[in-house]
Amino acid sequence: MKIVVTGGLGFIGSHTVVELQNEGFEVVVIDNLSNSSLDVLDGIERITKIKPLFENIDLRNKLAVQNFFKTHHDVAGVIHFAASKAVGESVDDPLLYYENNINALVYVLQEITKLQQANFIFSSSCTVYGQAEKMPITEDASVQPAISPYGNTKQIGEEIIFDVAKVTNLNSVLLRYFNPIGAHSSTEIGELPLGVPQNLVPFITQTAFGLRKELSVFGNDYPTPDGTCIRDYIHVVDLAKAHVIAMQRLLNKRNLDKVEIFNLGTGKGSSVLEVINAFEKVSGQKLPYKIVPRREGDVIMAYANTDKANDVLGWKAAFSLEEALASAWKWEQKVRS
Ligand code: UD1
Repeated sequence: MKIVVTGGLGFIGSHTVVELQNEGFEVVVIDNLSNSSLDVLDGIERITKIKPLFENIDLRNKLAVQNFFKTHHDVAGVIHFAASKAVGESVDDPLLYYENNINALVYVLQEITKLQQANFIFSSSCTVYGQAEKMPITEDASVQPAISPYGNTKQIGEEIIFDVAKVTNLNSVLLRYFNPIGAHSSTEIGELPLGVPQNLVPFITQTAFGLRKELSVFGNDYPTPDGTCIRDYIHVVDLAKAHVIAMQRLLNKRNLDKVEIFNLGTGKGSSVLEVINAFEKVSGQKLPYKIVPRREGDVIMAYANTDKANDVLGWKAAFSLEEALASAWKWEQKVRS
């Protein structure tokens, strides 16, 4: 069965391509290489021994999207990762985010709803919950007004999918990711942020490797046990496997609603200082860091209630924080060598 993975050369996309191929799916990757490279295709091939079909398409090009789905009218499902994801950049250039994350989504939905089956998995984010009142966060926690254009595109994206599913053949799973980290155990693929990493774990591994002087810890005066923010860090391979299970659910028509939502996290919250300690333990490296003021827009605490994903999807994160950090460290060393 043919599955299209948009943004398939990105961090989560590439790991999902591997898991899909491992399960016997034929994968077609769409990517515009804006935040990825063709080397990732080779990395995927070295892991699975299969080179996925690759189309260099920018999904903002409506005609290109139309032509793609005319050629690939036998597609059984689409997993849509292609999007911009830097919160700060979205504040500076909101139109880029609305064009990239919304126009592209609309064009893909327009085409797949013309096909025999329109099975669609959407990359959403725990950012839609804002600062949730109750921890751990369940899927029925309310969606809070977005604080960045990036976060808004995830909320609007979800709403578009609900509206379209009501009146078309679209069946969709919205996956709300907590904090994806780590890399494939082969070290053939992993996270490759451009420039200075905005996210915690790539900043940690680059600092440990000597590329950055020290990590800035954004605030230690939060109302948490050690004063630093708490997040739910999930291994990217666990996350990737959840996409395959969600797609199989749609393909086998086991979904109970036309649009279903699942949190993807481990269910365990870790503070920034706990992440640093765990990293030092698994890497044997001392991590230089300093405490600096809070970063604007950070929530105090976010970790998932994973009951729904466990019970309904039949999926559970298998890797620990330590294992995920060890894989990220192994990847950083390999990439720089
Ligand atoms: C961020 C986005 C989230 C998005 C995700 C995509 C915000 C507020 N949220 O999640 O919407 O879906 O990235 O990748 O930007 N930290 C430091 N020092 C650093 C970097 C991070 O102390 O140099 C801390 C942060 O304050 C936070 C934690 O580490 O408490 C995790 O930060 P990060 O990796 O950026 O993820 P989020 O902010 O949770």
